[in-house]
Amino acid sequence: MEAMRAVQILNPSGEVTMPRPERTRVMCVANQKGGVGKTTTTVNLAVALALHGNRVLVVDLDPQGNASTGLNVPHHTGVPDVYDCLIDSVPLEEVAQAVEGIPNLWCVPATIDLAGAEIELVSVVARESRLARAIAAYPGHFDYVFIDCPPSLGLLTVNALVAAQEVLIPIQCEYYALEGLNQLIQNINLVRQHLNPKLEVSTILLTMYDRRTRLADAVEQDVRNHFGDKVLQAVIPRNVRVSEAPSYGQSVMTYDPGSRGATSYFEAAQEIAERGVMEPVSRNA
Ligand SMILES: Nc1ncnc2c1ncn2[C@@H]1O[C@H](COP(=O)(O)OP(=O)(O)O)[C@@H](O)[C@H]1O
Ligand SMILES: [Mg+2]
Repeated sequence: MEAMRAVQILNPSGEVTMPRPERTRVMCVANQKGGVGKTTTTVNLAVALALHGNRVLVVDLDPQGNASTGLNVPHHTGVPDVYDCLIDSVPLEEVAQAVEGIPNLWCVPATIDLAGAEIELVSVVARESRLARAIAAYPGHFDYVFIDCPPSLGLLTVNALVAAQEVLIPIQCEYYALEGLNQLIQNINLVRQHLNPKLEVSTILLTMYDRRTRLADAVEQDVRNHFGDKVLQAVIPRNVRVSEAPSYGQSVMTYDPGSRGATSYFEAAQEIAERGVMEPVSRNA
């Protein structure tokens, strides 16, 4: 069983087994709380979609560079990174690196330089739309662009919200999960009103779900009541293989494709892909 699942997840034939969207879907993975699974979600969804025939770009917008680490993309000082694109208008294609071992996947890394960008951006022209411009100018045709946000609501996150059409919010199933989300939603509304009318919260993903606790169940019900069908059916369990994978420079998809973590990220990616090709009328936007 596990071996069969692994083959299904790794899709060695490279066939397109998750439907490709008509237009590029730019998805901002945001939640100003740290440690809720933003980076893990970005990396694993990106790898899952790429393994299944979608062309995917990951933009690491967190100075900690965890998405770059997770994809095993060099991001030490001196490596051209997203900072150069934001501050010095270097084209994204000069900075994007192909992710080794995963066809169809590229990553714009973040180095520690990005830590200064939050402040330096303040005095730059069109400071909120630097990333949007850079992505729009990228000639590569992508099915998905995932932007991994830092755990704050500063100018970096605003740049991601202006560049995206969709926001994906990972929510950890714990007591304070919904607290603090108001602030994120308010910021999203402000960006929609003033800078990016197309922006919508399209996807909520429950992460680090612990079946043994009644609390997780209660939080899940709360989130589903509040966000309705934006919440994916797939739920990501707390799974040690998910947390081990980054130290091997891998996603859980490739590190342990038979694990529950890999299966659930695979299912989440499949749902996202299927929602992306649904008729707009049947979509509860
Ligand atoms: N489903 C999971 N099971 C176990 N550990 C997880 C899971 N998802 C994330 N983690 C771990 O939790 C920590 C925080 O996750 P991360 O994706 O870095 O959050 P964020 O980007 O929101 O700060 C990391 O150490 C990560 O490996
Ligand atoms: Mg992160």
